[in-house]
Amino acid sequence: MKNYETEAAWQYHDGTKHPNGILLSRSHMYHPANRPTPYKTYKDAAQIKLPLDKRSSVISALDAIAINTKSECGNIVPDINVLSRTLFFSGGITKTLKFPSLGEIEFRAASCTGALYHIEIYIVCANISGLEAGVYHFNPQNLSLTILRKGDYRKILANATANEPFTSYAPIMLVFTDMFSRNAVKYQAREYRHAFWDCGTILSNALAMSNIQKMSYKLILGFVDSEINSLLGLDVKKEAALAILSLGNSSQELPIPPPLSDIAKAEPEQDMNLFAINEIHASSSLTNHQEVSSWRKQNTEHVYQKSVKLIESMESAFPKDSLETVILRRGSTRKFSHSSISLEQLSTILKRSTGRIASDFEEESINDIYFIVNAVDGLEQGSYFYNKEHGSFEILQKGNFRDASGHLGLDQNLPHDASVTIFFMTNLQKILGCFGNRGYRVAQLDASIMGGRMYLASYALHIGATGLTFYDDEVTEFFSPHASNKNTMFMIAIGKKAKS
Ligand SMILES: Cc1cc2nc3c(=O)[nH]c(=O)nc-3n(C[C@H](O)[C@H](O)[C@H](O)COP(=O)(O)O)c2cc1C
Repeated sequence: MKNYETEAAWQYHDGTKHPNGILLSRSHMYHPANRPTPYKTYKDAAQIKLPLDKRSSVISALDAIAINTKSECGNIVPDINVLSRTLFFSGGITKTLKFPSLGEIEFRAASCTGALYHIEIYIVCANISGLEAGVYHFNPQNLSLTILRKGDYRKILANATANEPFTSYAPIMLVFTDMFSRNAVKYQAREYRHAFWDCGTILSNALAMSNIQKMSYKLILGFVDSEINSLLGLDVKKEAALAILSLGNSSQELPIPPPLSDIAKAEPEQDMNLFAINEIHASSSLTNHQEVSSWRKQNTEHVYQKSVKLIESMESAFPKDSLETVILRRGSTRKFSHSSISLEQLSTILKRSTGRIASDFEEESINDIYFIVNAVDGLEQGSYFYNKEHGSFEILQKGNFRDASGHLGLDQNLPHDASVTIFFMTNLQKILGCFGNRGYRVAQLDASIMGGRMYLASYALHIGATGLTFYDDEVTEFFSPHASNKNTMFMIAIGKKAKS
């Protein structure tokens, strides 16, 4: 990819818009009985069972979401228990529900479009207490690690990131990968958006877990794709690495890695036509270290608008439930009542979920927050813009937009009945201008991490939330002229659960 090419990202984005994107077939049918197995398995590879301590920590979920751990603080060297807790509370199975026609479905710590669970987690680590250096695959089904390579391979990963400084010191690196067909079977080419949405919700949990365990972290999106994919032994037409999360800090230098020998092969996943996904992924890939370094130097600017004052939250009145409790309680709300949430609750959700995270791409804000108020005590019904820098709301238009809220969320009841619907919008032209096609990955992931944090903040406050999909251009139209140059990346609805 040449860093400034943007054509492929536009073609993909426009082609996968609801309702008429040309990369989506309107006659496509998906039956839940054909849901692919959501677990990647390696037949002949040894596994290590992970210990699990589910006890709650003392830091509240609302604080965990908001803290931004910097490299200087939290220099703990994580052990197997810390790793296991991070994996479980990010990608582990947290509940099993029985459905009359489908049988039992295992749900996970973070929300996922269609509950198709297409994001896999790999671990590349040094010797840590309780676990030898190696490359592992996380299997949430039996809470184990599959051994893929023995030895310390972090230097290969660090090289692939053009030696992003955090990778030189982190004892653990998590790599999040996407198994395309598992989600495309239902959502077709729109899957590549979902890749980043569903990776982002898992990352929100992982970042909050890093915070409560006092581990420094950095989210890294700039890397030579092929080098990470081959380190993990991925079948590149069907799956790919999306993001790297460095965890912890140690002062030891990275050792010379063992040679890359053959790696265990996973059981094959479904074959299907993934042309559009393969195209956008290849076009947003970085192919050498030079490209990675210069890509990382890109920056974004952001102009904030004038705004009205935010009513400050009354923090002390809020529940102090632990992050672990909130993650175990979370589940997408399936029916909202029309009752109101309070302005303090809304303020807290927005404030706590939108603070900066440590990453190799975010210098300034990438996504803006627009929302429709259907029922918030203390805030008039209408459409709003959230000014993150000033922590204030700007009213765009007063009025009852409940019907519009439902319509924009693909005519579903959930966005119609919710108290608030929130849209994450970015000036894609500007972001792609800065980051090239790979900026598409940045824009989607930036939005979904905030969305994932909003899920957690809502559940911390004992209110409900659900991710949603949307009619792309109509959202822009609705919030215009304010949002006229912006594209929608993610949507979430928040409100009180209806009594069933
Ligand atoms: C980005 C995103 C978009 C979603 N879109 C919808 C949607 O349009 N309609 C819906 O009913 N649920 C939607 N969901 C909710 C998922 O179906 C739900 O997360 C999944 O079934 C897993 O269940 P859980 O969140 O309760 O763990 C969405 C979730 C996410 C993360």
